Amino acid sequence: MIFHVLTIFPEFFRGPFEFGVVGQAVKAGLLEIKVHDLRHWTHDRHRTVDDRPFGGGEGMLLKPEPLFDAVEAIWPERSERKKVVLTSARGRRFSQADSREWSKGLDELLVICGRYEGVDERVAEHLVDDEVSIGDYVLSGGELAAAVIVDSVARLLPGVLGNDDSARNESYSVLDVEREILENRRIRGRKGKETEAVELLDCPQYTRPAEYRGWKVPEVLLGGNHAEIRKWRLRAAIETTNRLRPDLIRPDKVETVDEARAGTKTSQQEVDEQP
Ligand code: 6GU
Repeated sequence: MIFHVLTIFPEFFRGPFEFGVVGQAVKAGLLEIKVHDLRHWTHDRHRTVDDRPFGGGEGMLLKPEPLFDAVEAIWPERSERKKVVLTSARGRRFSQADSREWSKGLDELLVICGRYEGVDERVAEHLVDDEVSIGDYVLSGGELAAAVIVDSVARLLPGVLGNDDSARNESYSVLDVEREILENRRIRGRKGKETEAVELLDCPQYTRPAEYRGWKVPEVLLGGNHAEIRKWRLRAAIETTNRLRPDLIRPDKVETVDEARAGTKTSQQEVDEQP
C-alpha cells in the first residue's frame, strides 16, 4: 500500500515514520510512505498556502488551489481504491474499523493535514472523500493525527507485525464471544444491535516475575491449562472493558465513562479476591 501525506511540515514525519514497526516495514518494502510538501504547489514568491477568511475572523485558512493542485498531481486519476482524507477536529471519529477497512480495501491513502484555524470549505466539499478526527480535543495541526492514522492502518497490512496473530486478539479486534462464558449477560455491538462479534479491550497480561512486591500473577496463567486460560482471558477482557470503556459494550446506557466506572471492581481487586 502507498500512503501519501500532504503537509506544510514535511520534516515532522521523520520520527513517526522512520522508527518502530512502520519504519521497519518501509525498509522491508512492505509499504511506501510519501510525504509531500504543500508549498511545492504554490506559485508565488512567498509560497503562500494560507489566507484570511472572507467575512473576517481569527486565524488563517489553507487556500484551496495548492491542495487541489497537489492531489490532482499526485493522482491524475481517482479510483475506488484510492482515498483522500482530510484531518480536522470537526471530522467524524476515526476508528479501528476504518483502519481495518482501509488496510484491506485501498491501494493508496492520501492524508491531508489540516490546520486548526481551518481549511477552505471547498476542499471538504469537492476534493476529499472523508473528513476525520482522532478524538474530542483540538490539535494545532493535522500532522499528529495523520501520523496516528497512517500508523494504525500500516500496522494491519500483511507482514507488518512480525506475527500475523498479534493484531487479532488485542484491544478493538473482533472477538468471537463464547456466549456460555458471558454469564447470561447480553453483550451488544457498537450500533446497539445484538451481535456475535464484539469489540473488547485486551485482557491484562503479565510477565515474570510471578510475584512482584507481593502482587501475584493470577494463578491460572501460571499453569498449562489452555482452555482455562482462554476462559480467564475472555472474562478478564470483558471485565476490563466494563471497567475502563463501558461505552464499548453498552453505548446507549452509559452517560459518561466516569459514571460507569464508579462502583466497578478493578482487576487487582479481582486478583486479590481469588481463592
Ligand atoms: Cl484530525 N485535527 C485537528 N486539528 N485536531 C484534532 C483532530 C484532527 N482530531 C482531533 N483533534
